[in-house]
Amino acid sequence: MKPETPRPIRLKDYRPPAYLVDKVDLDVALDPTRTRIRSRLSIRPNPDATGRPAPLRLNGEHLELAEIALNRKPLGKKDYKLTDTELTIAKPPAKPFTLEIVTYVNPEGNTALQGIYRSNGVYCSQCEAEGFRRITYFPDRPDVLATYKVRIEADPEEAPVLLSNGNPVERGTIKGGKRHYAIWHDPHPKPCYLFALVGGDLASIASSFRTMSGRNVDLAIYVEHGKEDRAAWAMDSLKRSMRWDEERFGREYDLDVFNIVAVSDFNMGAMENKGLNIFNDRLILASPETATDTIFEHIESVVAHEYFHNWTGNRITCRDWFQLCLKEGLTVFRDQEFTGDERSKTVQRIIDVRKLKTHQFAEDAGPLSHPVRPESYIEINNFYTATVYEKGAEVVRMIEQLLGAEKFRQGMDLYFERHDGEAATVEQFIQCFEDASGIDLSQFRLWYSQSGTPELVCALKYDKTKKTAELEVEQVLPPTPGQPTKKPFHIPFKIGLLGANGHDIDLRLDSGEEVADGMVSLTKRRQTFRFTDVPSRPVPSLLRDFSAPVNVTIDLDDDDYELLMAADSDLFNRWQAASTYAIRTLVEIVRILGAGKTTSRGQRYAKSLRAAVTTDGLDPAYRAELLKLPTQADVARVIGKNVDPALILRAHKQLQRLVGRTLGDVLEDFYKDLADKSPFSPDADSAGRRALRNAALTLLTARGGKRDLAMLAKHYSIATCMTDRAHALYLLANIGGKEAERALTHFHDQWKHDHVVIDTWFAAQAQSPRASTLKRVETLTSHPLFSLTAPNKVRALIGTFAAANPVQFNRPDGKGYAFVASQVLALDAINPQIAARMLGAFRSWRALESVRRAQARKALQRIAKTKTLSPDVKEIVSKMLEA
Ligand code: PHE
Ligand code: ZN
Repeated sequence: MKPETPRPIRLKDYRPPAYLVDKVDLDVALDPTRTRIRSRLSIRPNPDATGRPAPLRLNGEHLELAEIALNRKPLGKKDYKLTDTELTIAKPPAKPFTLEIVTYVNPEGNTALQGIYRSNGVYCSQCEAEGFRRITYFPDRPDVLATYKVRIEADPEEAPVLLSNGNPVERGTIKGGKRHYAIWHDPHPKPCYLFALVGGDLASIASSFRTMSGRNVDLAIYVEHGKEDRAAWAMDSLKRSMRWDEERFGREYDLDVFNIVAVSDFNMGAMENKGLNIFNDRLILASPETATDTIFEHIESVVAHEYFHNWTGNRITCRDWFQLCLKEGLTVFRDQEFTGDERSKTVQRIIDVRKLKTHQFAEDAGPLSHPVRPESYIEINNFYTATVYEKGAEVVRMIEQLLGAEKFRQGMDLYFERHDGEAATVEQFIQCFEDASGIDLSQFRLWYSQSGTPELVCALKYDKTKKTAELEVEQVLPPTPGQPTKKPFHIPFKIGLLGANGHDIDLRLDSGEEVADGMVSLTKRRQTFRFTDVPSRPVPSLLRDFSAPVNVTIDLDDDDYELLMAADSDLFNRWQAASTYAIRTLVEIVRILGAGKTTSRGQRYAKSLRAAVTTDGLDPAYRAELLKLPTQADVARVIGKNVDPALILRAHKQLQRLVGRTLGDVLEDFYKDLADKSPFSPDADSAGRRALRNAALTLLTARGGKRDLAMLAKHYSIATCMTDRAHALYLLANIGGKEAERALTHFHDQWKHDHVVIDTWFAAQAQSPRASTLKRVETLTSHPLFSLTAPNKVRALIGTFAAANPVQFNRPDGKGYAFVASQVLALDAINPQIAARMLGAFRSWRALESVRRAQARKALQRIAKTKTLSPDVKEIVSKMLEA
């Protein structure tokens, strides 16, 4: 158990480690409840450390210490100090020495899934961020880099496959075949959070890759027996990622083997351990019958993400956990670029921006708001957030926008050259771009330290006689926790002006400067751009390609939106205009319904949408994005205060129905014409056609007619791929009734033996806005296939209910909150990391109307009052309740 209230760790307190570890020799004897770890460390005082001689402090938690020896001499109890979290040797030698430690851990009993644990009988490890200290005593910090040699020993029947980082060295049997072992060596120095081992009875598929310098790399993906055929897509994605990183960034792989292991119990999506990526199996396993297109796409991008970490994260790692965005933001940026290159750039940008707004903008607008580089934390696991990942990626993207592609690449090259093999900081990263480009990024650095989403309040004034257009931009920087006031940001702002015919007007500033690519820099709180030779009143197209993670407000009218949606040369902004227009319409409907009146508003929007979606020459995938109305959460975020989720749902349904009716003929044509006649293929074009067809189905069934329902039921029953089947299942579950029950029963019976696919069944029920959902979800928590110790089950059922069912989670009677609070408390005793994440669903509670707000506060206070909270949950709940 941890001590009472842990103190926050602060960035400004960073000190270099007093001791370095050059070499780690591990000998691990796997056993279900008593796994033995023998560790031999080659340690030396750090010449760069200050304040020596210093004690040697090793982290260690949940460990049984059996032996400890320094330079081969066993230490007695008085030679060191042992607490629940640390082992300290007061006066170690002033020159290099070896330390040998034997510890025991219990993988079977490890429900926190950090350190060594068992998932479905497979031994696996998870060390990021601070799991290595649950394996052995060690300076568990990312700036201590060592080479590792690892021997794993196990029962050959229980664990025929034995894997660790690096290259295989040797394997053999001992004790007359009762045990066997494998030895692995990783020549690349790495921090201990990248250590991994796996032991289990696993099947695998193999392939190989020839690197750009002609070296051969053996690739393998390990999965449960019988699931081999579902790993092909992941393997294909891996090879494409390896090629892409060579071509786009000149980065080559650096070991003889690359292994991926899929396990079913995993706290996150996947982990980039050097040469041995460990994945949540839902992000590896896919076949047309079991996985949706979204999952296929997700697998592709996560496989790429973890692979890309080999350079951004592993070869160059983080000095401390405050620098997390240095590897995560950058690697998300890289995986987004990869997907954009593999698929459609515009559609990818739309998907990424949607995700950013849903998760990061919401996070940044509430009590959990924090800078891309936080300045303090209690539990680092709580900082694997949308802000660090998605906003972190946007910050890198802005650097590229400001420098241009070529200078950006030069900056990246310099970063790889200068910091390879090091544990780096954000400052060092930025410095590389300044050095490569000569551009001053000092103001830009504020993006790393100031939290909150900037708002660009814009106005356009046109002077008919002078033929000038003035664009005024004000940066409004809302206060966030701990940051009441802010300095203006350096913002790349990409803009265009559309003439009446929809064509771009050449941008010429009154200084005479041409703004060829439409990119202007905002650096002041208020700025005005005066454009000359503007023949008629233009329509502004702002924040093209989403050039910065900001909100833009400008007063446009219906005609302006219609023009942007139909004709903007920036396809991303056509979608953005459609989305903004829809949200504006929805906000208006909510306001009218809230006043107790009725409205048929939305006709104009529907008409514009019809024109936009039928414009010639657009990809089906892009049309599908246009047809996906903003979510209820999007509307809530824009409304921002006194939010009533029930009203938003009503407005949303009403607009969907209106669009379904107004565009009925168009949608029916899409639905008919796009039916798949060829065998399933996961490629972007085929997926795009399915997406458009399903988006049309959503709107058509929103009309609520008998024929529509029949069409939906049929869509479910004749579906030949999971994309169609799951889409229909969700829609049916939303509607409820006989057809829904029939489909749910069918789905359950078909997939009850598949622990990955059955999660769709849990989630479909949890997201239904029907009043009976809470009861149902409660009942499902005792379903034999549900388990609080399996994070994927928790996420599918409780996570979906809390984060993707705004009306039922936010029931005015508070029962949704009470249920989630109880689950969080139950989970906290099992897996604090997952418990804290579930609790995150409350992050927008302060924006609710007063009745719900009071109910949510009550639920949060109940959690806060509970003794024995983990530091994870305690940190989140106290931030939520702080004024
Ligand atoms: N580093 C992993 C990634 O983003 C995420 C992760 C964090 C996994 C912590 C496990 C634990 O690629
Ligand atoms: Zn990552």
